Amino acid sequence: MRIGIFDSGIGGLSVLHEAYHQLPDQDYIFYADTDHVPYGKRDPKEIMEYARACTYFLLEQGVDAIVIACNTATSVAVKALREEIALPIVSMEPAVKPAVETTEGRRVLVIATPVTLRETKLKELIERVDEDHRVDLLATPELVGFAEREEFESEAVRAYLARQFATVNPEDYSALVMGCTHFNYFKNLYRDFFPDYTAMIDGNFGTVRHLAHRLEIPRQEVPDGAVTFETTEELLRNTTYYTSGRLVKDEEMLMHFLRLHNRLEEMRKIR
Ligand code: DGL
Repeated sequence: MRIGIFDSGIGGLSVLHEAYHQLPDQDYIFYADTDHVPYGKRDPKEIMEYARACTYFLLEQGVDAIVIACNTATSVAVKALREEIALPIVSMEPAVKPAVETTEGRRVLVIATPVTLRETKLKELIERVDEDHRVDLLATPELVGFAEREEFESEAVRAYLARQFATVNPEDYSALVMGCTHFNYFKNLYRDFFPDYTAMIDGNFGTVRHLAHRLEIPRQEVPDGAVTFETTEELLRNTTYYTSGRLVKDEEMLMHFLRLHNRLEEMRKIR
Protein backbone atom coordinates (compact mmCIF):
# COMPACT_ATOMS: atom_id res chain seq x y z
CA MET A 1 0.00 0.00 0.00
CA ARG A 2 0.99 3.59 -0.45
CA ILE A 3 0.62 5.70 2.69
CA GLY A 4 0.77 9.49 2.80
CA ILE A 5 1.97 11.12 6.02
CA PHE A 6 2.02 14.85 6.66
CA ASP A 7 2.98 17.31 9.36
CA SER A 8 3.85 20.99 9.54
CA GLY A 9 7.48 19.88 9.49
CA ILE A 10 9.84 17.20 10.72
CA GLY A 11 7.71 16.15 13.71
CA GLY A 12 5.82 13.77 11.45
CA LEU A 13 9.03 11.87 10.75
CA SER A 14 8.57 10.34 14.19
CA VAL A 15 5.35 8.72 12.97
CA LEU A 16 6.98 7.57 9.73
CA HIS A 17 9.82 6.19 11.84
CA GLU A 18 7.40 4.21 13.97
CA ALA A 19 5.80 2.94 10.76
CA TYR A 20 9.21 1.59 9.68
CA HIS A 21 9.14 -0.50 12.88
CA GLN A 22 5.62 -1.84 12.49
CA LEU A 23 4.97 -1.71 8.74
CA PRO A 24 8.40 -1.82 7.08
CA ASP A 25 7.18 -3.21 3.77
CA GLN A 26 4.77 -0.44 2.76
CA ASP A 27 5.47 2.56 0.53
CA TYR A 28 5.39 6.04 2.02
CA ILE A 29 5.07 9.61 0.89
CA PHE A 30 6.19 12.00 3.59
CA TYR A 31 5.13 15.63 3.31
CA ALA A 32 6.59 18.28 5.61
CA ASP A 33 4.82 21.62 5.19
CA THR A 34 8.01 23.52 5.97
CA ASP A 35 6.80 26.74 4.30
CA HIS A 36 4.18 27.07 7.03
CA VAL A 37 5.77 25.60 10.13
CA PRO A 38 4.94 26.22 12.96
CA TYR A 39 1.22 25.51 12.85
CA GLY A 40 0.91 25.61 16.61
CA LYS A 41 0.79 29.38 16.96
CA ARG A 42 -1.41 30.08 13.93
CA ASP A 43 -5.06 30.89 13.47
CA PRO A 44 -7.17 27.69 13.13
CA LYS A 45 -8.55 28.92 9.77
CA GLU A 46 -5.04 29.06 8.37
CA ILE A 47 -4.16 25.64 9.78
CA MET A 48 -7.30 24.22 8.14
CA GLU A 49 -6.25 25.68 4.80
CA TYR A 50 -2.71 24.25 5.04
CA ALA A 51 -3.86 20.84 6.26
CA ARG A 52 -6.30 20.66 3.37
CA ALA A 53 -3.55 21.52 0.87
CA CYS A 54 -1.31 18.76 2.30
CA THR A 55 -4.16 16.26 2.16
CA TYR A 56 -5.10 17.01 -1.44
CA PHE A 57 -1.47 16.93 -2.54
CA LEU A 58 -1.14 13.43 -1.09
CA LEU A 59 -4.42 12.35 -2.68
CA GLU A 60 -3.02 13.36 -6.06
CA GLN A 61 -0.07 11.05 -5.47
CA GLY A 62 -2.51 8.13 -5.34
CA VAL A 63 -2.18 7.21 -1.67
CA ASP A 64 -4.39 4.53 -0.08
CA ALA A 65 -4.53 6.30 3.29
CA ILE A 66 -3.46 9.52 4.93
CA VAL A 67 -1.89 9.97 8.33
CA ILE A 68 -2.11 13.41 9.89
CA ALA A 69 1.12 13.17 11.87
CA CYS A 70 0.41 16.40 13.68
CA ASN A 71 -1.66 16.88 16.82
CA THR A 72 -2.28 20.53 15.97
CA ALA A 73 -3.64 19.85 12.46
CA THR A 74 -5.71 16.97 13.80
CA SER A 75 -7.37 19.07 16.44
CA VAL A 76 -8.36 21.71 13.89
CA ALA A 77 -8.91 19.83 10.63
CA VAL A 78 -9.56 16.10 10.91
CA LYS A 79 -13.32 16.31 11.26
CA ALA A 80 -13.81 18.42 8.14
CA LEU A 81 -11.31 16.41 6.10
CA ARG A 82 -13.02 13.14 6.99
CA GLU A 83 -16.31 14.60 5.78
CA GLU A 84 -14.70 15.65 2.48
CA ILE A 85 -12.65 12.56 1.71
CA ALA A 86 -13.63 8.91 1.50
CA LEU A 87 -10.08 7.54 2.03
CA PRO A 88 -9.03 6.38 5.52
CA ILE A 89 -7.57 9.31 7.46
CA VAL A 90 -5.67 8.30 10.58
CA SER A 91 -4.82 11.11 12.94
CA MET A 92 -2.93 11.92 16.12
CA GLU A 93 -4.08 13.01 19.51
CA PRO A 94 -2.06 13.38 22.69
CA ALA A 95 -1.80 9.92 24.31
CA VAL A 96 -3.71 10.98 27.41
CA LYS A 97 -5.72 7.76 27.62
CA PRO A 98 -2.75 5.36 27.78
CA ALA A 99 -1.01 7.76 30.15
CA VAL A 100 -3.93 7.83 32.56
CA GLU A 101 -4.54 4.08 32.26
CA THR A 102 -1.00 2.79 32.53
CA THR A 103 0.41 5.02 35.21
CA GLU A 104 -0.86 5.22 38.74
CA GLY A 105 -0.68 7.47 41.70
CA ARG A 106 0.86 10.66 40.49
CA ARG A 107 -0.19 13.21 37.91
CA VAL A 108 0.05 13.33 34.10
CA LEU A 109 1.62 16.28 32.27
CA VAL A 110 0.70 16.90 28.62
CA ILE A 111 3.06 19.13 26.65
CA ALA A 112 1.70 20.43 23.33
CA THR A 113 1.28 23.52 21.16
CA PRO A 114 -1.04 26.33 22.31
CA VAL A 115 -3.55 25.48 19.56
CA THR A 116 -3.78 21.81 20.59
CA LEU A 117 -4.23 22.82 24.23
CA ARG A 118 -6.97 25.34 23.37
CA GLU A 119 -9.05 23.27 20.94
CA THR A 120 -12.15 21.43 22.15
CA LYS A 121 -10.89 18.07 20.85
CA LEU A 122 -8.35 17.73 23.67
CA LYS A 123 -10.74 19.14 26.26
CA GLU A 124 -13.32 16.50 25.29
CA LEU A 125 -10.73 13.74 25.41
CA ILE A 126 -9.63 14.78 28.91
CA GLU A 127 -13.23 14.98 30.07
CA ARG A 128 -13.79 11.42 28.82
CA VAL A 129 -10.72 9.72 30.26
CA ASP A 130 -9.43 11.81 33.18
CA GLU A 131 -11.89 10.67 35.84
CA ASP A 132 -9.61 11.56 38.75
CA HIS A 133 -8.56 14.97 37.39
CA ARG A 134 -4.90 14.05 37.22
CA VAL A 135 -4.03 15.75 33.93
CA ASP A 136 -2.13 19.06 33.69
CA LEU A 137 -1.31 20.96 30.50
CA LEU A 138 1.81 22.89 29.53
CA ALA A 139 2.53 24.70 26.25
CA THR A 140 6.10 24.37 24.97
CA PRO A 141 5.74 25.77 21.43
CA GLU A 142 9.34 26.92 21.00
CA LEU A 143 10.48 23.29 20.85
CA VAL A 144 9.06 23.16 17.32
CA GLY A 145 11.55 25.79 16.12
CA PHE A 146 14.43 24.16 17.99
CA ALA A 147 13.59 20.84 16.30
CA GLU A 148 13.31 22.40 12.85
CA ARG A 149 16.76 23.96 13.32
CA GLU A 150 18.09 20.56 14.42
CA GLU A 151 19.01 22.18 17.72
CA PHE A 152 18.52 19.26 20.08
CA GLU A 153 21.15 19.71 22.74
CA SER A 154 22.03 23.43 22.83
CA GLU A 155 22.24 25.62 25.90
CA ALA A 156 19.31 27.63 24.51
CA VAL A 157 16.96 24.65 24.32
CA ARG A 158 18.00 23.47 27.79
CA ALA A 159 17.39 26.96 29.18
CA TYR A 160 13.98 27.07 27.48
CA LEU A 161 12.96 23.74 29.00
CA ALA A 162 14.25 24.82 32.41
CA ARG A 163 12.00 27.89 32.23
CA GLN A 164 8.95 25.94 31.11
CA PHE A 165 9.38 23.08 33.60
CA ALA A 166 10.00 25.55 36.43
CA THR A 167 6.26 26.22 36.32
CA VAL A 168 5.49 22.63 37.44
CA ASN A 169 6.87 20.24 40.04
CA PRO A 170 8.40 17.37 37.99
CA GLU A 171 8.23 15.02 40.97
CA ASP A 172 4.43 15.14 40.83
CA TYR A 173 4.28 13.29 37.50
CA SER A 174 4.13 9.62 36.64
CA ALA A 175 3.80 10.43 32.92
CA LEU A 176 4.92 13.09 30.47
CA VAL A 177 2.84 13.00 27.28
CA MET A 178 4.35 14.25 24.01
CA GLY A 179 1.31 16.08 22.65
CA CYS A 180 3.22 17.27 19.60
CA THR A 181 5.18 15.07 17.23
CA HIS A 182 8.11 17.52 17.19
CA PHE A 183 8.66 16.90 20.90
CA ASN A 184 9.86 13.31 20.45
CA TYR A 185 13.35 14.54 19.55
CA PHE A 186 14.02 15.87 23.06
CA LYS A 187 13.24 12.86 25.25
CA ASN A 188 16.79 12.71 26.61
CA LEU A 189 16.52 16.33 27.77
CA TYR A 190 13.21 15.78 29.59
CA ARG A 191 14.95 12.99 31.51
CA ASP A 192 17.20 15.60 33.13
CA PHE A 193 14.17 17.32 34.63
CA PHE A 194 11.89 14.40 35.52
CA PRO A 195 12.53 11.49 37.89
CA ASP A 196 13.05 7.93 36.62
CA TYR A 197 9.47 6.99 37.46
CA THR A 198 8.08 9.55 34.98
CA ALA A 199 7.16 7.59 31.83
CA MET A 200 7.67 9.34 28.48
CA ILE A 201 4.57 8.60 26.43
CA ASP A 202 3.93 9.42 22.79
CA GLY A 203 1.02 8.55 20.54
CA ASN A 204 3.05 7.11 17.68
CA PHE A 205 2.77 3.42 18.51
CA GLY A 206 -1.01 3.60 18.84
CA THR A 207 -1.38 5.69 15.69
CA VAL A 208 0.56 3.21 13.54
CA ARG A 209 -1.22 0.24 15.12
CA HIS A 210 -4.50 1.91 14.23
CA LEU A 211 -3.28 2.54 10.67
CA ALA A 212 -2.39 -1.15 10.29
CA HIS A 213 -5.81 -2.10 11.56
CA ARG A 214 -7.63 0.29 9.20
CA LEU A 215 -5.68 -1.00 6.19
CA GLU A 216 -5.76 -4.61 7.39
CA ILE A 217 -1.99 -4.97 7.08
CA PRO A 218 -0.26 -7.37 9.51
CA ARG A 219 2.09 -5.58 11.87
CA GLN A 220 5.70 -6.53 12.45
CA GLU A 221 8.03 -5.71 15.30
CA VAL A 222 11.33 -4.52 13.93
CA PRO A 223 13.48 -4.38 17.10
CA ASP A 224 14.76 -1.19 18.71
CA GLY A 225 18.12 -0.19 17.28
CA ALA A 226 17.44 -1.75 13.88
CA VAL A 227 16.02 1.24 12.00
CA THR A 228 19.06 3.37 11.22
CA PHE A 229 20.37 4.69 7.92
CA GLU A 230 23.83 5.14 6.53
CA THR A 231 23.07 6.31 3.00
CA THR A 232 20.37 8.38 1.40
CA GLU A 233 19.66 5.50 -1.03
CA GLU A 234 18.54 3.43 1.95
CA LEU A 235 16.38 6.32 3.09
CA LEU A 236 14.65 6.48 -0.28
CA ARG A 237 14.07 2.73 -0.54
CA ASN A 238 10.35 2.92 0.23
CA THR A 239 9.75 6.62 0.89
CA THR A 240 9.45 9.79 -1.18
CA TYR A 241 9.94 13.06 0.68
CA TYR A 242 8.34 16.42 -0.09
CA THR A 243 8.70 19.80 1.55
CA SER A 244 5.55 21.86 0.86
CA GLY A 245 4.95 20.21 -2.51
CA ARG A 246 8.62 20.17 -3.63
CA LEU A 247 10.22 16.78 -4.19
CA VAL A 248 13.29 16.44 -1.96
CA LYS A 249 16.21 15.40 -4.11
CA ASP A 250 19.23 17.27 -2.87
CA GLU A 251 21.70 15.31 -0.84
CA GLU A 252 21.95 17.91 1.93
CA MET A 253 18.23 17.82 2.71
CA LEU A 254 18.12 14.03 2.50
CA MET A 255 21.07 13.84 4.90
CA HIS A 256 19.10 16.09 7.24
CA PHE A 257 16.20 13.59 7.20
CA LEU A 258 18.65 10.71 7.63
CA ARG A 259 20.14 12.28 10.77
CA LEU A 260 16.65 12.90 12.15
CA HIS A 261 15.67 9.26 11.66
CA ASN A 262 18.85 8.14 13.40
CA ARG A 263 18.14 10.46 16.31
CA LEU A 264 14.59 9.12 16.58
CA GLU A 265 16.00 5.60 16.81
CA GLU A 266 18.16 6.78 19.73
CA MET A 267 15.16 8.38 21.42
CA ARG A 268 13.31 5.02 21.44
CA LYS A 269 15.60 3.93 24.25
CA ILE A 270 14.12 6.61 26.48
CA ARG A 271 10.71 5.65 27.76
N1 DGL B 1 4.10 18.65 14.98
C1 DGL B 1 2.91 19.33 15.26
C2 DGL B 1 2.05 18.70 16.33
O1 DGL B 1 2.10 17.50 16.50
C3 DGL B 1 2.83 20.83 15.26
C4 DGL B 1 4.05 21.65 15.36
C5 DGL B 1 3.80 23.06 14.88
O2 DGL B 1 3.89 23.23 13.66
O3 DGL B 1 3.53 23.93 15.70
O4 DGL B 1 1.30 19.35 17.00
